[in-house]
Amino acid sequence: MGLKSQVLLPQYPIREKCKELMLTEEQLRQIMKTFHHELLLGLGKKTHDNATVKCFVTYVQDLPTGRETGKFLALDLGGTNFRVLLIELSENHFEMKSKIFAIPQHIMLGSGEQLFDHIADCLAKFMKEENIMKEKLALGFTFSFPLKQLGLTKGILKSWTKGFNCSGVVGNDVVQLLRDAIKRRGDINLHIFAILNDTTGTLMSCAWKNHSCKIGLIIGTGSNACYVEKQKNAELFDEPDGGSGNVLINTEWGAFGDNGTLDFLRTQYDKTIDQNSINPGQQLFEKMISGMYMGELVRLALERFTKEGLLFGGKGSDLLFSKGRFYTKYVSEIESDYSGVYTNCREILEELGLKHASEQDCVNVRFVCECVSRRAAHLVSAALVTLLNKMDEPHVTVGIDGSVYRFHPHFHNLMMEKISQLINPHLKFDLMLSEDGSGRGAALVAACASGKSR
Ligand code: BGC
Repeated sequence: MGLKSQVLLPQYPIREKCKELMLTEEQLRQIMKTFHHELLLGLGKKTHDNATVKCFVTYVQDLPTGRETGKFLALDLGGTNFRVLLIELSENHFEMKSKIFAIPQHIMLGSGEQLFDHIADCLAKFMKEENIMKEKLALGFTFSFPLKQLGLTKGILKSWTKGFNCSGVVGNDVVQLLRDAIKRRGDINLHIFAILNDTTGTLMSCAWKNHSCKIGLIIGTGSNACYVEKQKNAELFDEPDGGSGNVLINTEWGAFGDNGTLDFLRTQYDKTIDQNSINPGQQLFEKMISGMYMGELVRLALERFTKEGLLFGGKGSDLLFSKGRFYTKYVSEIESDYSGVYTNCREILEELGLKHASEQDCVNVRFVCECVSRRAAHLVSAALVTLLNKMDEPHVTVGIDGSVYRFHPHFHNLMMEKISQLINPHLKFDLMLSEDGSGRGAALVAACASGKSR
């Protein structure tokens, strides 16, 4: 007693085995180079069809001015929850009401018709509650999956991601599917003015507040980014220039690596995650980064180390050995413990049936979490810097949303540090947390499209 207890370090064999999760600056620079090449393939007319990073044109040419006005409905589908919003915009001010509805698993994996009927049903319930059934409002639809847009109100679904797999939707125009579902009910009256990605919504929402915002980034269940590109570089953009000379590009960077370009750094955990997913071979970059997979990456490493006798005295638990039972929020919680303290860590390990964990086990578990989340933050940073360098604007604000960025205690700092190291030295950037999700962004795009913007 009285003596300071010795600070424990993660054990040598675990440190060694986790080295493959640590990316060197050289590796990150190589990723940037490859990603830049893939972006150009996505933007090019001749190369787009075979490109992995699709760089879809969004048909949004203008960023908000802050002078948009009107009352709008917005739908936000893209994760485990679905939101309906009512937004009133006036000069530099907005009010928003929203309701969250769950998307049950059987609908995520059911038919497209069921999904869109469910969406229309939630919309009708919300409109009834808000007493707006009789108003013909403009609607913006945030639909956060890879869409090949053919206009502001036409988008063909290329593939499902993030655990969705509804039949009969891929290859179809989702705006039409929503219109059909609304028609089937016959009790709602509205005008769909825009379909957009959550990254576009986030960019618009942040740009409304901060005019230097030119990138929208999501690090949540999935991951993706959208940025302001010059129309002349977006070879598939086929509408007249409304004056800005720009168009927002939805990169769909989650699919980066699907052609093997990231194989040099994929670990056995990445491969297992992919094999066990409902979309093997797809969204490989996303699977290394986002909230749908981060907890499972940690669990796979912990399972391996336990079976090798390096953790918990070689004695695991049913939960630790069950797919999907180490939630991504655990990673954030474990890393939220002050250094040298393992309160959250112990609680989580107990929840997982690992009461017998020693202090050294806690140190090791935390270290594995840090390696996985650091790698995610570094990969996102490398892709983001590629966009910042490509845009070559003196100062860009990045609007960011998503549970990983929002709740992980160190993600922001890890990104700040890595981006500063990789960015071209004459460029300045900052990272801005989006406060209002992409709902306001949907209203803003609808406002511009419906002419309620000056
Ligand atoms: C989707 C993107 C979306 C991202 C973040 C990805 O799985 O393909 O469209 O922006 O998740 O929600």
